[in-house]
Amino acid sequence: MPSHRSAAASLLAVWLGVALLGVGAAPPRPSSSCQRECGGVDIPYPFGIVDSPGDDGGGCAMPGFGLTCKEAGVNGGRRRPFYYDVEVVDVSLQQGQVRMQNHISTYCYNAATRGMDPHRWHLNFTGTPYRFADTNKFTVIGCQTLAYILGEHAGDYTSGCVAMCRGESDGDVRSALSNDSCSGIGCCQTAIPRGLQYYEVEFDSGFNTTEIYNVSRCSYAVLMDAAGFSFSTTYATSPGLNSTYGGKAPLAVDWVVGEETCDAARKNSSSYACVSDHSECLDSLNGPGYICNCSKGYQGNPYLQDPEHGCKDINECTDLVKYPCNVPGTCQNFLGGFECGCPKHIKGDAQNGTCDGNHTFGIGEKLGIGAFGVVLVGLVCILAVEIISHKRSIKRQALIRQSDEYYQQHGGEILSEIMRVERNIGFTVYARAAIEAGTNMFDKENIIGEGGQGTVYKGVLDVDGKDTLVAVKRCKEVDESRRKDFVQELVILCRVDHPNIVKLLGCCLQFEVPILVYEYVKNKTLQELLYSQPTSCRATLGTRLRIAAQSAGALAYLHSLAHPILHGDVKPANILLSDGWVAKVSDFGCSTIDEKTQVVARGTAGYVDPEYLLEYQLTHKNDVYSFGVLLLELLTGKKPLSKQRKSLMVMVQESMGDGTLHQLFDREIVDDASMGVAVQAAELATRCLVMPGNRRPAMRCVAEELQKLADQVQQPLVLECHSLTVKGMESSMSSESDTTGVFSLEKKAALSIEFAR
Ligand SMILES: *[C@@H]1O[C@H](CO)[C@@H](O)[C@H](O)[C@H]1NC(C)=O
Ligand SMILES: *[C@@H]1O[C@H](CO)[C@@H](O)[C@H](O)[C@H]1NC(C)=O
Ligand SMILES: *[C@@H]1O[C@H](CO)[C@@H](O)[C@H](O)[C@H]1NC(C)=O
Ligand SMILES: *[C@@H]1O[C@H](CO)[C@@H](O)[C@H](O)[C@H]1NC(C)=O
Ligand SMILES: *[C@@H]1O[C@H](CO)[C@@H](O)[C@H](O)[C@H]1NC(C)=O
Ligand SMILES: *[C@@H]1O[C@H](CO)[C@@H](O)[C@H](O)[C@H]1NC(C)=O
Ligand SMILES: *[C@@H]1O[C@H](CO)[C@@H](O)[C@H](O)[C@H]1NC(C)=O
Ligand SMILES: *[C@@H]1O[C@H](CO)[C@@H](O)[C@H](O)[C@H]1NC(C)=O
Ligand SMILES: *[C@@H]1O[C@H](CO)[C@@H](O)[C@H](O)[C@H]1NC(C)=O
Repeated sequence: MPSHRSAAASLLAVWLGVALLGVGAAPPRPSSSCQRECGGVDIPYPFGIVDSPGDDGGGCAMPGFGLTCKEAGVNGGRRRPFYYDVEVVDVSLQQGQVRMQNHISTYCYNAATRGMDPHRWHLNFTGTPYRFADTNKFTVIGCQTLAYILGEHAGDYTSGCVAMCRGESDGDVRSALSNDSCSGIGCCQTAIPRGLQYYEVEFDSGFNTTEIYNVSRCSYAVLMDAAGFSFSTTYATSPGLNSTYGGKAPLAVDWVVGEETCDAARKNSSSYACVSDHSECLDSLNGPGYICNCSKGYQGNPYLQDPEHGCKDINECTDLVKYPCNVPGTCQNFLGGFECGCPKHIKGDAQNGTCDGNHTFGIGEKLGIGAFGVVLVGLVCILAVEIISHKRSIKRQALIRQSDEYYQQHGGEILSEIMRVERNIGFTVYARAAIEAGTNMFDKENIIGEGGQGTVYKGVLDVDGKDTLVAVKRCKEVDESRRKDFVQELVILCRVDHPNIVKLLGCCLQFEVPILVYEYVKNKTLQELLYSQPTSCRATLGTRLRIAAQSAGALAYLHSLAHPILHGDVKPANILLSDGWVAKVSDFGCSTIDEKTQVVARGTAGYVDPEYLLEYQLTHKNDVYSFGVLLLELLTGKKPLSKQRKSLMVMVQESMGDGTLHQLFDREIVDDASMGVAVQAAELATRCLVMPGNRRPAMRCVAEELQKLADQVQQPLVLECHSLTVKGMESSMSSESDTTGVFSLEKKAALSIEFAR
């Protein structure tokens, strides 16, 4: 008996399961008992009130759209909708946006400890439907403040800005401020890229309020909707922004209902979200995904199928304010629109108030129109015949013509003219077909690097008549207004010829974006050499100084050109290492060419010169600064910014002050014999970091000093490994580099021109 019963039970369960599956496949139909309001905020489906943000509240919310309704204050108070601990103040289906109250990060002087207390906030929407709207700006308030926004966007993303109040005394500081202008004095703002879903805040400890805490004790940083924000001088002085905004600032957040485009979403009827009749699908402008909207003339919830709540016809005739009809009484509603007639025998458009009869056509006009119509029909017929007969050849030529168009747009003719005049330039303009064949149609398998500027593919192309391994970089879009400068800059770039700079071999202008072809550099980047695991292998001090000297020499060369090239993003990940650990500076291709990202500051947190963030105008002293940071990193083996400790720069400055510099060095590479050289190198690095920038040495001097220091270290060029020491690397690298040495053993496919930041 029991066995029978359980069999029946399991049968029932199977049946239930089938039935449930059947229900699951149908479009969602949230129950009418779902809570649709919280704290005065409407919560329309796909949003819904749930017990915890992770669940779907029994179908009340689409997955990922659950909000909780809870008390806002610590000790009770009004119930408000929340996404985790972020309060939601508005949900808009039509705009595909919610508004939230974002926490303000603060960095305050603590009089008791005489130190700085950071309260850093981050927001992680990765894997959720939310992404920051691009109307938000990273807003920093303070009188001695450098704050970074760090995120993930096509690799690591960093931006930031400096807010300063010039002046010595309290009075000076106050009078330097002016209301309504957020332009670096007490307040600065920087834009964010589209599609950003994660951000965190970092304050640079070198900028702090220990000296000015009587006027301005705290610095503030927050990602907030810039519309409606106007700076008041009281924000920068104590008690500051926090007290005005109550610790929270308005944030606009876009959301999407799927990760795919509308075209792709429509194909899958079981997941397509625009289920209402008379609804339409809109691709999101802020990253992948789509939202739904009611068609024109309809209103309601496009995400609901039932006619009661879905998109319904608007009866425009009942709202003469929104839908004016200048001849009252003639308004006629129909599905999806309305008509507003003029009085009898009078032509015009009552909606525009043009019912004046002037638009009736006379006989002459009618005849004219008729004749014109006949001619038009004839023309259309002829054209149609033409089109049909030429359709195939048109199709064939379309691609060629498009390539030619791109070629023109990117200034291909100017380039070929220059190439003709200057032979021996060692630069090839590749054809579209050659690039496509060489990279196997930009096969994903061939990607060796991806970054903010573009994607790098490994490929094989003809270089000087030989098939050669190359790195092919597909730049991100180039701004229309800069297209004409593109070729000029390309010509400058292809003249760059230095043993420590990755060589630009050619380009292709027949794609919608510029394609740059670089020499292929084997081995690692300096970043990997310093930090890759396992760290059983170490580059010696001599090797590091030599790499530094070569990199400095390369930058000095770029700065010395008739048209100086500023790198703008000097960091270990952009120093490639070729055979024999020769440094090759990379990653100034698309950047030099495309400055459209100027609003979004370029550079990497920790390396970027605060003065650049203040002015947004790149100078060669910015490269000197970044190089100074890189040099400190080489000597200490520590990253410039760390959550656990102070910034590397502050640590070095402090230890130089109290004579403990030797403790900071990477003891695996600096011994007592080489200590003197290491100290001199550290002093050189700090000279690269002084403010203001015009007191920093030129890159040429830095290179010369480093070369001298490198020569003083009597060490062979080796990698020191605990288990084995690879000597004579230089001689053996050239031919058998793939099989010698520890680096080759753990050789990875990802060696590239540009690594994601
Ligand atoms: C959705 O439609 C409404 C009314 O037609 C319009 O105001 C709104 O801008 C549309 N939303 C989007 C995101 O285009
Ligand atoms: C953000 O959240 C996603 C998903 O929960 C997680 O994988 C990722 O590591 C988080 N990112 C950071 C920087 O915490
Ligand atoms: C700016 O506005 C605030 C409040 O509106 C006011 O207290 C302050 O004095 C103003 N500052 C200046 C420099 O006008
Ligand atoms: C504040 O900045 C100064 C120099 O800018 C630095 O010497 C000092 O250590 C910093 N103080 C703190 C608490 O970080
Ligand atoms: C701040 O004010 C206190 C008390 O008025 C004073 O003792 C201190 O020196 C001031 N600090 C600075 C940095 O001006
Ligand atoms: C900012 O305001 C919040 C909420 O009022 C408060 O908890 C926090 O301590 C304040 N922080 C500062 C630095 O004033
Ligand atoms: C359609 O959507 C469902 C539910 O999201 C998913 O499980 C399924 O894999 C999708 N089918 C296709 C062909 O993408
Ligand atoms: C009336 O206004 C509509 C919408 O503003 C416009 O499309 C139409 O051309 C106007 N008609 C006339 C006659 O101006
Ligand atoms: C229509 O005609 C009248 C008189 O014939 C004239 O005053 C008026 O300006 C005309 N309106 C338009 C829009 O042309």
